[in-house]
Amino acid sequence: MSSDLFKFKFTKPTSGDIESNSSTGREFEQVMTDETFVNFRDVIYKLCGIYYTESKKYLLEGRIAKRLIACKIQTFLEYIKYIKSFSGKEELYNLFEAITINETYFYRAQFQFDALENIIIPEIIQNKAGFQRPIFRIWSAASSTGEEAYTIALMILERIGKKYPNFNFQILASDINNAVLENAKAGVYKEYAIRNVPPDVLNRYFKKGNNTYTLTDEVRRMVKFMNINLYDQATMRTIVGCDVILCCNVLIYFDIPSKQKVITHLYDSLNKGGYLFIGYSESLHGISKAFKLVHFPKAMVYKKE
Ligand SMILES: C[S@@+](CC[C@H](N)C(=O)[O-])C[C@H]1O[C@@H](n2cnc3c(N)ncnc32)[C@H](O)[C@@H]1O
Repeated sequence: MSSDLFKFKFTKPTSGDIESNSSTGREFEQVMTDETFVNFRDVIYKLCGIYYTESKKYLLEGRIAKRLIACKIQTFLEYIKYIKSFSGKEELYNLFEAITINETYFYRAQFQFDALENIIIPEIIQNKAGFQRPIFRIWSAASSTGEEAYTIALMILERIGKKYPNFNFQILASDINNAVLENAKAGVYKEYAIRNVPPDVLNRYFKKGNNTYTLTDEVRRMVKFMNINLYDQATMRTIVGCDVILCCNVLIYFDIPSKQKVITHLYDSLNKGGYLFIGYSESLHGISKAFKLVHFPKAMVYKKE
């Protein structure tokens, strides 16, 4: 057993180091040693590719400390053993909920959506001319609470579906975090998330409640949600035949080898002629040469040729 553990069990706690749980009388470790941080960083990295740098140590410490309390586990080391054990498998989902950052909102990347609607969708549809029952598959691959996927559903309902009535548009949205997926399925949003939604679209497709905006069933039915870990090779291999993949604002949490691994999987999931969107602040420079970088007005998108 490491000496960090003894430090917390046998020394008098200073305020902020240990939180007492009055119902059990147990005490929870609150300060993560550098050694334990490295241990966590490596475990998290192996599980999902997210790489916590030294500068994020306190963020990780605070988030995992809450899981210690929830699980009534006293020390960080015990918690690591727990998540590595068979009985801790379910806790992995809670860990992912605790460590991921889920910022998103409707119409977040307007120029990308413009390129998708005006150029990419018509191009791919033209390439499928003559197909008997043509399917157009779109995958929002780190969807968080679903705003990106639903923005595309709204685009299809508003205009694209009417232009191409014989096409079956399928939208898959996935994330590693079950809590955000449940919120996404419910389709209930606050002012912050809908602030860029055009007023007429808001009126037509959202029911206004007390400080909430709930998507109509018509929109919610268009998106299928799944828990998919982008780092899980076996599951990733099952997602194929996509025409467009959006994997936005998640690569920033990965290091180069995990970006390479994820991008290789996404490449395989795309159809020839399909497109991959990543976040504005992200790039595949030094990550992959497999794609062709295509420039659209104020947006760059990666094409599988
Ligand atoms: C900042 S949000 C991006 C949401 C949306 N794509 C956007 O651009 O607005 C990043 C999401 O990536 C998810 N994520 C992080 N690591 C993941 C992984 N290994 N597999 C799947 N999703 C992951 C997080 O749970 C989080 O919801």
